[in-house]
Amino acid sequence: MFWLTAAALAGVAQAQMQMGSLSMLRFGCAQTVIDRIDPLVDPGKIPSPHVHQVVGGDAFNATMASTDISKLAKCTSCTFSEDFSNYWTAAIYYKASNGSYKRIPQMPNQQIGDSNGGLTVYYTAMGKGSSTAFKPGFRMFSGDAARRVPSGFGKNMQSCYRCFPGVNFQGNTMSPCMDPKIDSEGFPKTPCPGGIRSSVIFPLCWDGKNLDSPNHIDHVAHPESGPASFAVTTAKCPASHPVKIPQVHLEIVWDTRNFASIKEDWSADGSKQPLVLSSGDETGYGQHGDYVFGWEGDTLQRAMDNSCFGPTCPKGNLKTQTFAAANKCTVKSAVHEEYDAWVDHLPGLDNMGNMPM
Ligand SMILES: *[C@@H]1O[C@H](CO)[C@@H](O)[C@H](O)[C@H]1NC(C)=O
Ligand SMILES: *[C@@H]1O[C@H](CO)[C@@H](O)[C@H](O)[C@H]1NC(C)=O
Repeated sequence: MFWLTAAALAGVAQAQMQMGSLSMLRFGCAQTVIDRIDPLVDPGKIPSPHVHQVVGGDAFNATMASTDISKLAKCTSCTFSEDFSNYWTAAIYYKASNGSYKRIPQMPNQQIGDSNGGLTVYYTAMGKGSSTAFKPGFRMFSGDAARRVPSGFGKNMQSCYRCFPGVNFQGNTMSPCMDPKIDSEGFPKTPCPGGIRSSVIFPLCWDGKNLDSPNHIDHVAHPESGPASFAVTTAKCPASHPVKIPQVHLEIVWDTRNFASIKEDWSADGSKQPLVLSSGDETGYGQHGDYVFGWEGDTLQRAMDNSCFGPTCPKGNLKTQTFAAANKCTVKSAVHEEYDAWVDHLPGLDNMGNMPM
């Protein structure tokens, strides 16, 4: 694979690769908007409790009906130009020792290109007939915004951070979220002068009926053997959720290059560090991802069935666009507040990090 080293492949996607059938889309989506709305968890609320960074189609809105959003969107910030899905996560802020906060910007991932912030999306499946693409109206959630302790998934953690000790993704030699020595489920304990990558992996199995569920999680499930690592999609789904879906995985690279020099904000023993999620979570365990499916027609199924790999899919006849076009697909923020300057409290929280009464 062109963006992972040989070591990164060992024991993971390699077996699937050798079988010659692995389908793995990996592509960038630029920032659509930074805003305090959440059509999945808090539909209609303007503002919702915390700031999200959002990518994908311009049908993104505080309320989004469970419908075919590819028909509502006019553009997408993703380089697969038929992917009008929306993907969003919490943002990361830097809390300086004087108590002020600044949102940490995002930067393009390794081998992605000239993306205006945003994130990288992966869809992985074993090839033809092995997975069923999502249906129009499908949405799901991964993670737990209220979590402040490890999930206990260990080498199968579904959310993790990788701290890059040097520029140009120095130290990126393993697949994400598979070794607690390299990736942490909570925030890194040391400054990361090359950036921090946050990964969120979604479940692999679906009940085959419901496009959503009240907590946006129960209609999907992990395989019988437990949560699946990145790019390992062969495990058996439980009888309650028998339909294998493509594995969705998001990578967000936070540009900490301009923050890592303020060394006194980290303590030597790792007990104090300045990162905080937009939800007020100072542990990082509460990172979460939201997904609203919006691929046009059967495009995603074609990609999964044709062993497409990386940022293009000529065999599946999928259309792409450049970042020059993708970067232009934005929506206006619905909540008018400051998301770029230094602020004295996190948007939606008081200056103690609590939700105002
Ligand atoms: C978002 O919803 C509002 C209120 O329903 C509507 O006026 C607006 O056109 C919508 N925006 C988009 C981009 O669909
Ligand atoms: C707090 O510290 C940051 C980083 O040094 C600085 O940029 C910001 O202006 C300070 N805020 C206030 C209110 O002094």
